[in-house]
Amino acid sequence: MGMPTAPTSTPIACTRDSLSSIDTDLVVVPWFEEDAPDAVPGLDKASGGELARAVAAKEFQAKPYDLFVTPTNERGWKPKRVAVIGGGRRTDCGGDVIRKLAVTAGLWARQKRVGRVAFVLRGQGDLMDLAQAAAEGLTLSEFNAGSYKTAEPAPPPPSAWMIAAPSSTPDVLSRVNDAVTRGRILGEASNLARELANEPGNTLTPREFAKRAAAIASEAGVRVEILDEDKIAELGMGLLLGVARGSSEPPRLIVFRYDPPGAPEKPVLGLVGKGITFDTGGISIKPAEGMERMKDDMSGGAAVACAMRAIALLQAPMRVIGVVPTTENMPGGRAIKPGDILKSAAGKTVEVINTDAEGRLILGDGLWYARQLGATHLVDVATLTGAVVVALGKTTSGLFGAPDEWVERVRKVAERAGDRAWPMPLYDDYREQLKSEIADMMNTGGRPAGSITAAMFLKEFTDNVPWVHMDIAGTAWVDDAKPFLPKGPSGVAVRTLAELAFEKF
Ligand code: BES
Ligand code: MN
Ligand code: ZN
Repeated sequence: MGMPTAPTSTPIACTRDSLSSIDTDLVVVPWFEEDAPDAVPGLDKASGGELARAVAAKEFQAKPYDLFVTPTNERGWKPKRVAVIGGGRRTDCGGDVIRKLAVTAGLWARQKRVGRVAFVLRGQGDLMDLAQAAAEGLTLSEFNAGSYKTAEPAPPPPSAWMIAAPSSTPDVLSRVNDAVTRGRILGEASNLARELANEPGNTLTPREFAKRAAAIASEAGVRVEILDEDKIAELGMGLLLGVARGSSEPPRLIVFRYDPPGAPEKPVLGLVGKGITFDTGGISIKPAEGMERMKDDMSGGAAVACAMRAIALLQAPMRVIGVVPTTENMPGGRAIKPGDILKSAAGKTVEVINTDAEGRLILGDGLWYARQLGATHLVDVATLTGAVVVALGKTTSGLFGAPDEWVERVRKVAERAGDRAWPMPLYDDYREQLKSEIADMMNTGGRPAGSITAAMFLKEFTDNVPWVHMDIAGTAWVDDAKPFLPKGPSGVAVRTLAELAFEKF
């Protein structure tokens, strides 16, 4: 609630102390299925043999996210308690699993109101990747989804986080520190996006969204411009204006520019996010059941705004442009109607078959504008279709685009960032489904391949520049809580977009 501010998350210190000398209330140690009881020297002894006993009795089997907590009474052993957390097989325990273990441990520690928590780096692969992932995870565990509760406030985060890389050299520790700083910035950016997505439609109107998104990014040094309805009309954005007609709240176009000094002229990464602050469906109105969820239909736009913040804080080497068209989709007296024809800023005309397919409309103008501003590589993020949930479920976002190399690059970055996504085909045949009798195209292509025809619609506005569309309709909101992911907004795509600005292309 309120305007975003500088980081509010708990600082994360780093240490190379041995476990026994970390001054903390709880030390969390990832534990693997193949670990012998003495895998971490001194740990079992400190637990008074409890760890070996629990492992032998199969009480603790190191299955992912299993926790086993025991006090430590050993003389000269500083941590008051130890939690081993199951990491499955060690070879599978890279950054992605460590991130989830850190979230799980962090949430548990909050729940139990533990004061100081240390997380020990153990796992597969590069230590710096593990350190960054652990910091992301601890920070993500601080997110509070019930910010309007006045009765029982959520348990606060621990007073101190620590990440331990025991017996590393001072030089390695200083690199761990940098990785942790990076992880915390990315975790905070994700949490800011979750806060925005969680904000209801009555408080987060397009104007308010623009204001908050601007504050989030400009605090970090990003140049932000908010275009009002007159400017939007001057640009000829008939698709965005069309969607906005049904609402008494005016639309906005939020434009972000990150231009690091000395950056090469190209590439220019163009990030475009869907910013529907509430989607009623418009005249093609949605059923009442579950409609409250449509407050998060600006998750893609929030991801862009918060990624821009992280990109600036992390001083990415390339130029980045962000474009977020934002409006409500409402069925007011002036609303667009099925059969209406709109003219896009790119000049193409669209026959609106279903006013609930509004995301692709506003993104069409948004993609065009990102191109106008000089983007050489486009990525758009949108809660675009129910169909992608049917295709890929609620853990994997849909990826669409061209050329394949650009799609694959985004996919790899997303996987590392913990935003799993999978490619879907964009064969020319699908374009047929959008053919209109009266305009250049329709805004829907019927039930078959619904997420693909939505992407085909967007493709019309990319001018054949390398482009990826990420459909996050299934992943932006969590319905079934997991140990590492509470119900509510997930913050998906923030870290992917931010990390992309560090790639070579
Ligand atoms: N915002 C919705 C997509 C959505 C659905 C997001 C479910 C999250 C959960 C989008 O604007 C929409 O309404 N899409 C329609 C398109 C259809 C009319 C072609 C859909 O998926 O039903
Ligand atoms: Mn819709
Ligand atoms: Zn929508």
